[in-house]
Amino acid sequence: MGYGKGEVIRVGIIGCGGIANGKHIPGILGVEGVEIVALCDIIPERAEQTKESFGLTGAKVYQDYKDLLKDETIDDVQVCTPNRSHSFITIDALEAGKNVMVEKPMAINAAEAKAMIDASKRTGKALTVAYQNRQSPEMQILKAEAEAGTFGRIYYAKAQALRRRGVPTWGVFMNEYEQGGGPLIDICTHSLDGTLWILNNYKPKRCFGTTFHMLGKMPAEYQGNGWGEWDPEKFTVEDSAFGMCIMEDGTLITLETSWALNTLDTVDEGRTFLCGTLAGADCTDDGVRINGVRDGQMYVDIINDKTERGAPYYDGRGWEGFGIREQQVWYDYLRGEGELVVKPEQAYVVSQILEGIYESARTGKEIVFD
Ligand SMILES: NC(=O)c1ccc[n+]([C@@H]2O[C@H](COP(=O)([O-])OP(=O)(O)OC[C@H]3O[C@@H](n4cnc5c(N)ncnc54)[C@H](O)[C@@H]3O)[C@@H](O)[C@H]2O)c1
Repeated sequence: MGYGKGEVIRVGIIGCGGIANGKHIPGILGVEGVEIVALCDIIPERAEQTKESFGLTGAKVYQDYKDLLKDETIDDVQVCTPNRSHSFITIDALEAGKNVMVEKPMAINAAEAKAMIDASKRTGKALTVAYQNRQSPEMQILKAEAEAGTFGRIYYAKAQALRRRGVPTWGVFMNEYEQGGGPLIDICTHSLDGTLWILNNYKPKRCFGTTFHMLGKMPAEYQGNGWGEWDPEKFTVEDSAFGMCIMEDGTLITLETSWALNTLDTVDEGRTFLCGTLAGADCTDDGVRINGVRDGQMYVDIINDKTERGAPYYDGRGWEGFGIREQQVWYDYLRGEGELVVKPEQAYVVSQILEGIYESARTGKEIVFD
């Protein structure tokens, strides 16, 4: 932190797969005053390929992230590896004096997430988690409306991320050991993060849930997956999960998520659903809908991407728009010109609740948080 005006921030990328190439690198390239100077992947050809496709001619390529961390000119590291390695790579990077943006989920469990926060405090280096959906138009509108008091007291919300057939078959997504779980930790993590952020409620009291290993075990003729056929033998994580979390103040958040489910009721992970004393809201393809009663009459306000109302808007609905904003706000923060948007303590609570749901599914018991 403490960069002077015009001073270039030098960045290293660890893990050069889908998310690094699809979001982080285009995002960083969209921000002024930041330079990608190092790329690392345990499969070095991937880092070389990334270097070539983005024309990062000056970037050094590493196979072992520990070698990248030895470069004292690198200020900031972005961890884009599978979930299991988020915690130890992040902690090593913080200890090496780097600020860190780590991909979601923060870690595969709450204890590891806590160790990451401790390392950030110990080293005085900044840490954030890449929940880019906070920059989506829907989440920005809902956050602004919640802060303006539009919803009154929100006492019921749904964190949904429901895919009919959207199993990520590349990399290690279906591998329990590497990822710590399936859709709950992979996509519902976004929905829960956005929901807690809008509610500004980070005090879970108890949770309960179940996970299913049903469609993941089905043979090819029942798959029909958008991302290609999966091998049922290698599908060791859940294919859907459902649960609920009751917060200290009594607010109920239900969680519903799937990579594969026989439903037409699909919900993108960048959306949420809330009910408050004054109004409720949900996100649809037509825009964000706010419903309530005004002057004794029920109303529905639809705010879509074309309106001037509500939160600030950014061009593009895909990675490009959110990904650039995610990087912009991070580097603004590192330059002392803005707030840290995704605080590690917030991402920790997401990990805590997700772990609670998994634990409940394993034990059949309600999990009570201290
Ligand atoms: N924010 C989002 O919406 C979003 C979307 C997709 C993935 N992700 C997250 O990004 C992470 C990576 O996902 P992906 O889709 O890019 O996977 P991927 O398999 O495409 O890429 C991961 C890369 O990391 C490399 N790698 C593995 N271990 C490494 C290590 N120890 N050191 C250096 N490189 C290593 C792999 O060789 C691979 O190239 C996951 O944690 C996932 O949850 C986030």
